[in-house]
This record gives sequence, structure tokens and C-alpha cells, in this order.
Amino acid sequence: MDISPARTADLAGVVNVEQRVFPEGPYPGFVLYQHHHLSPDLLLVAREDEEVIGYALGAVSTRTDAGWVLSLAVDPDHRGKGAARRLLTALVEHLQAMGCREVLLHVAPANTTARGLYDKLGFRVVEHQDDALGPGGDRLLMKLTQSS
Ligand SMILES: CC(C)(COP(=O)(O)OP(=O)(O)OC[C@H]1O[C@@H](n2cnc3c(N)ncnc32)[C@H](O)[C@@H]1OP(=O)(O)O)[C@@H](O)C(=O)NCCC(=O)NCCS
Repeated sequence: MDISPARTADLAGVVNVEQRVFPEGPYPGFVLYQHHHLSPDLLLVAREDEEVIGYALGAVSTRTDAGWVLSLAVDPDHRGKGAARRLLTALVEHLQAMGCREVLLHVAPANTTARGLYDKLGFRVVEHQDDALGPGGDRLLMKLTQSS
């Protein structure tokens, strides 16, 4: 498995993973393409035999020195072999290298799989935000602070 910034040729695969993982409300493909244009180093893919099997998308706040994990998704046929852990670790390292002293993310309270991964990588719940993503869209705000 190879983890690296997405190439333009990977974007169709990223969109495919997004649609398979979040069929009820995927990011539109053009949003992912635009993120790639804006911050190509913050869209990472996991590839196996040239196939995109997962991706992680980050962003940097323009108001604070915080980095954000906007999305993390691994194709259902390729889970449980460390792709998400490696994607998230690489994204966090990249954000920290850019000067982000903390990395934030939102996760659904019921998403115990993702929360288990975030816990293991040192993220801690700092706030329960009711309706963070609109009515019924409660989210936990989790934060990883860089150890100095
Ligand atoms: C969450 C997700 C990205 C994990 O992807 P993955 O590649 O299977 O995860 P990994 O193999 O790297 O596993 C990393 C950790 O995740 C947790 N995890 C993974 N699969 C799990 C499962 N079935 N049950 C419980 N915990 C699990 C474990 O803590 C695991 O650590 P371990 O290997 O030391 O046990 C994947 O399940 C997914 O795409 N889910 C849907 C989208 C989603 O929820 N994204 C996050 C939104 S905030």
C-alpha cells in the first residue's frame, strides 16, 4: 500500500471511494477537485496496485493555526488493514509541518470505529456540538495537540 498526495489521475478514484462510503450524502466530485486544486498536498490517497482504496482530506484555518481533517474514508472492501491509520498519520504530520500546532476534526458520536482510531492517534474530545452540521447533525469536536 502506498500513501501519497493525490495525483490528478487519482481524483476519479477518490470520488468513487467517497460515493461508496457516503452514499447518503457524498461530497460532490467538483468539491474534491477544487480542494485538490487549492491544496494538493492535503488530499492524500492510499493506493493498492494503482487503485485508490481510501483518502484523507485536510485544510488549514485562515483564522487560527489549526489544521482540520475534513474527511477520511476507506473503501469497504479494503478496511482493517491500516489504510486509515496511515492516511491520518501522514495528514497530521503534513499539517504539523505546515505549522499547525493543533489538528481538529468532527466525528459523529455514534461512529465508534472512527473514534477508536482517533483516540489511538491521540485525539481527545473537547466539545459536544449540537446540530454542528445542521439539525440532527450532532458532532464531537476532537483535537490533537502537538507535543512540544
Ligand atoms: C473509519 C475508517 C476510515 C477506518 O478505516 P480502516 O482503514 O479500516 O482503519 P484501519 O485499518 O487503519 O484501523 C485503524 C483503527 O480503526 C479502528 N477500527 C478499524 N476497524 C474497526 C472496526 N471494525 N471496529 C472497531 N474499530 C475499528 C481501530 O481502532 C483500528 O486500530 P487497530 O488496527 O489498532 O485495531 C473506515 O471504517 C471508514 O471509511 N468508515 C466510514 C467513513 C468514516 O466513518 N470516516 C470517518 C468520518 S469522521
